[in-house]
Amino acid sequence: MKRVLLLIVLSLSALAGVWLSIEAPKHKKSGVIDAIEARRSIRAYKDQPVEREKLQLLAECGVKAPSAMNLQEWEVRIVDNKEWIDACTADYLKAVEGTDKAKYMLTPTFKNIFRNAPAVIFVAAPKCTFAGENIGFLGQNIMLAATELGLGTCCLGSVQMIFAEPAMQKHLQSLGFSEGYTLSYALAVGYPDETPEAKERDMSKIKFVE
Ligand SMILES: Cc1cc2nc3c(=O)[nH]c(=O)nc-3n(C[C@H](O)[C@H](O)[C@H](O)COP(=O)(O)O)c2cc1C
Repeated sequence: MKRVLLLIVLSLSALAGVWLSIEAPKHKKSGVIDAIEARRSIRAYKDQPVEREKLQLLAECGVKAPSAMNLQEWEVRIVDNKEWIDACTADYLKAVEGTDKAKYMLTPTFKNIFRNAPAVIFVAAPKCTFAGENIGFLGQNIMLAATELGLGTCCLGSVQMIFAEPAMQKHLQSLGFSEGYTLSYALAVGYPDETPEAKERDMSKIKFVE
């Protein structure tokens, strides 16, 4: 009798296993997909420094991105020095004083020219084939890893214009990028102080080709 009961229990568990595997969602979300869906561009940050280990981890996640022929043609600079950030902000605001550029920056919650973030990751690339692709993957790795760590980010293409100002050359130099490397974008990083809604995406851009 015991044997029959055991057989029934085993058969039922096997059936349940098969049923569960059929019913389990086919596209169960992973951490990465969650991060993709949760990520937003953040432009308001708490007055809370980002731990250096986390900044280092983010940069390493960036550098683990694929690059054409694994040439890793990028350079990454991390700044969490408030004095450096404030000096950049002061010099830039002085350079563009009275222009629309200054008006655009100076919102009521303005803290600095890096969308008010306490830390900034600068990314530069040399003139090379696939430069944009390489550093694009690097940046997205950083932003998704940051999301997973509860950090907010915002990609800032505006640094190309900001650091083109003559008054900003000394700050650009101090980032110490190698000869031939051009600053492409920066990533503002910090603990988010806002929870923006997701911006709409146009899924009609995706088509299967039969
Ligand atoms: C190459 C690039 C440059 C960007 N430059 C800026 C910028 O200078 N300032 C800014 O506030 N946001 C900038 N963004 C963020 C975009 O505005 C943002 O990604 C877009 O509106 C979609 O919103 P989401 O990131 O919250 O999904 C940039 C994004 C990319 C990819």
